[in-house]
Amino acid sequence: MQREIITYPNKILKQKSKDIESFDKDLHTLLDDMYETMVSKNGIGLAAIQINVPLNAFIINLPNKNDEQIKEDLVEIINPKFIEKKGSTIYTEGCLSIPEYYDDVDRAEWIEVEYFDRYGKKVLAQYDGLMAIAFQHECDHLLGELFIEKLSFLKRKKFEKEWKKKLKGSK
Ligand code: CO
Repeated sequence: MQREIITYPNKILKQKSKDIESFDKDLHTLLDDMYETMVSKNGIGLAAIQINVPLNAFIINLPNKNDEQIKEDLVEIINPKFIEKKGSTIYTEGCLSIPEYYDDVDRAEWIEVEYFDRYGKKVLAQYDGLMAIAFQHECDHLLGELFIEKLSFLKRKKFEKEWKKKLKGSK
């Protein structure tokens, strides 16, 4: 079932999410709903808090080398932890909770992480490229943080001005 995506500046997005304790049917329904919701908005990542569920879960589904987004590449991440981060890289990020706004964000280039899959199986993984960037972006959501909080003071001011204008226009 598709769910509604919460958008900035809704305070729910600032909430810290909690660890998932049971890898049960409810979790599977949540993850399935998140996938449906994300794909319907052409997103590549979505955290549970973005659909008003404050649990440590997110999904990432990057396009493959033929630029196709296929479900076989979907990664479901539960209760993630960083083990190590290395290097730095800048990428123009977007977010389904801040539609149609994109800006450059500096993040670690390489990460080593640990998380659980939907069945409660522990996964150890190393990521670089867009996967590492998306993983860090989604982990920030679980901490109640958005990528616009990483912008410089002036860029943030400019964003707030543009966003206010946009919100007014949509009313
Ligand atoms: Co986001």
